[in-house]
Amino acid sequence: MDVDDIDLSDIAFWALPWRVREQAFAVLRAERPLAYFEEPDLSATSSIAPPRGRGYRAVTRHADVTEVSRHPEVYCSGKGAISIIDLPEEMVEFFASMISTDNPRHARLRRIVSAAFSPRRIGTIGSGITEVADRLIDRVAPLGGCDFVTELAAPLSLEIICDMMGLPPSEHATVFRCSNIITSSGDQEFLQAGDDPLEAMLNAGQELVDLLTELSAHRKAHPTDDLTTALISTNIDGEALTPAEVGSFFILLLTAGNETTRNSIAHGLLAFTEYPEQRAIWQADPAGVAGTGIDEIVRWASPVNWMRRTVTQDTVLSGQELHPGDKVLLFYGSANRDEDVFEDPYTFDVLRSPNPHVGFGAAGPHFCLGAHLARSEIDVMIRRLFARLPDIEASGEPEQTVSRFVNGIKHLPCSFTPTAPRATP
Ligand code: HEM
Repeated sequence: MDVDDIDLSDIAFWALPWRVREQAFAVLRAERPLAYFEEPDLSATSSIAPPRGRGYRAVTRHADVTEVSRHPEVYCSGKGAISIIDLPEEMVEFFASMISTDNPRHARLRRIVSAAFSPRRIGTIGSGITEVADRLIDRVAPLGGCDFVTELAAPLSLEIICDMMGLPPSEHATVFRCSNIITSSGDQEFLQAGDDPLEAMLNAGQELVDLLTELSAHRKAHPTDDLTTALISTNIDGEALTPAEVGSFFILLLTAGNETTRNSIAHGLLAFTEYPEQRAIWQADPAGVAGTGIDEIVRWASPVNWMRRTVTQDTVLSGQELHPGDKVLLFYGSANRDEDVFEDPYTFDVLRSPNPHVGFGAAGPHFCLGAHLARSEIDVMIRRLFARLPDIEASGEPEQTVSRFVNGIKHLPCSFTPTAPRATP
């Protein structure tokens, strides 16, 4: 593959098979670790798209991804972390939340929300995760097969986040629809004919903000032990989120937490199918292997393709001069296959240790807030699947999500020996 033929901004690149994309990143790491790309031109598909910006550099080596993540004073998030283009003002409102802020605002937001995602708090919702997983398995167990993504992987993380926030089951379908529109960034499957993708994202964001504003107002008068109540109640530092911040944070939880976990589980099933000996190791000792196995699934899946940072001062990275305003994209999947860090990076190894993957981001202020929750969800789903549908495997080609941002699987047929649902679900 010629390095000059690689264009990470071309949406067609993200429709290529995973193995081809991996080859391209190997070439970039070796030959051009901070390659420059023009920004995608979104004006062809959206009338409200801003003009193209100045382009970006693709950070593809593990050492550089960790260096950038560690230095928020040099590489800031406040100009947008989840978008290559500078978003129109009104979109920042909905989609910015803490992931696109810097200190002191970021520290304040993270202080307010972090207790809800601590290992202790996540431990207390463990039985709830098991209950949701079992309920989903009950629905498909007698069928002998289903779409693994839409029936099992996707509803798990969505229902957990909705339950945590205190949203009733009657709202889950709305949340699922809006979340698909926002995270797929324009995938036709989730739009109506003639929809402007950016406008559709804005509308979906507004719908979610309205839902959460209403719920926050209700919780103000009728507090419960859910996350929404916790976020609008003042913490020990006397701080709370405003209703608008709750809405924006909820969108972040959906975008950051929902697709990522779903895709990890789906990539996990594909890997188990492709590497039966690894699956046998896990099945022989689920409790013993989960610790290393879950991290290997996240490394393998690398569900977030990149996060963006913007340079704040003159600096040098991997010998490349950078200047204020330059954009850098941290390509986590590439860092997670870096031959300088991982032995046999293209092998799925559930006992891999050490495994310094950056699937949840590298160490730094924005390291994934939901990592404990995600690990718990992956752990529970795999344990319940191996216990109840032990021969489950992918039985057809996965349908990739064509997205620059998420390494997604939209549909994945799976099969298993049919079993009865639990007697008393
Ligand atoms: C396997 C699943 C997941 C993966 C791979 C993942 C990955 C990431 C990555 C790469 C970042 C950015 C790190 C950075 O910029 O330095 C991030 C941030 C974040 N994640 Fe996750 N995530 C996952 C699950 C979750 C879940 C379940 C939640 C919550 C429900 C969540 C909530 C967040 C939040 C709120 C942030 C922003 C943190 C901040 O800006 O301080 N994530 N995640």
